[in-house]
Amino acid sequence: MYRLALIGNPVKQSKSPEIHQQFFEQTSLKGTYELIPVDQVELEGKINWLKAEGYHGFNVTVPFKEKIIEYLDEIVGPAKAMQSVNTVSIQNNRLVGYNTDGEGYVLSLNEAYPDFLSDVKHKRILIIGAGGAAKGIAYQLNKYAFQSIDIINRTAEKARQISRSLNHSRALSLGMAKDILEQYDLIIQTTSVGMSPNNHEQIISLQGVKPNAIASDIIYKPKWTSFLQDAEQRGCRILFGESMLLYQAAKAFQIWTGQEIKDFVN
Ligand code: ATR
Repeated sequence: MYRLALIGNPVKQSKSPEIHQQFFEQTSLKGTYELIPVDQVELEGKINWLKAEGYHGFNVTVPFKEKIIEYLDEIVGPAKAMQSVNTVSIQNNRLVGYNTDGEGYVLSLNEAYPDFLSDVKHKRILIIGAGGAAKGIAYQLNKYAFQSIDIINRTAEKARQISRSLNHSRALSLGMAKDILEQYDLIIQTTSVGMSPNNHEQIISLQGVKPNAIASDIIYKPKWTSFLQDAEQRGCRILFGESMLLYQAAKAFQIWTGQEIKDFVN
């Protein structure tokens, strides 16, 4: 019987319990996935409680993806490079931190558009935002030899920081990105702008975008953000936020249970 959870604040809107329940059914494993709201001051106590109660692992969301690190015994893979953790496993009383966001994103992209990741050397990517999710996605995409992975962000220094860690990348201003929008083959919206209830907000108009470019938003509520509606009207191909959610969850499920999820029911 696996005991899993999500800690963060807020957590009540999360779709993760239903996703993991579906994975339990698919793999014929038994388990629970609970939503546990945690305040800043309670973090350490809650982690000790999860250990003492025999939880097998948990996901971490806003605002603890970085803060959690000081309580872990080890962090591995992309989590280490990014200093951001979204998945923790508890084994023999040891807490190990992972980050499955970027890997989940690339898997979802590959599933929806299998051709995109082959023949990458003439393709350009624009990432909007420079938070934890942007960092994870950029880190994974950097493993492919794209012509460029450019970043724009309200706080320019954060865009520059990510950009410096990538092989071929520029940190651009919003205006510069708008001027060369037609150059991008994939545009990834990673900020919280446009998330319900602010459905009508959008950072950048897609005027001038290449018609068959892929427009991707990691927001999944609403499914059709203003950004994606704009993209659809301009003939772009679409990648919905819920697919990244599903694949990052599948990677976390695999870390906790050892079971690979192969069939996704969207
Ligand atoms: P996550 O881990 O989900 O990426 P985050 O680390 O808080 O969350 O990052 C949020 C991103 O949304 C950041 O790029 C943030 O821009 P700043 O770095 O300038 O804060 C961006 N963002 C949030 N609200 C925004 C707004 N109103 N306008 C522009 N960008 C915004």
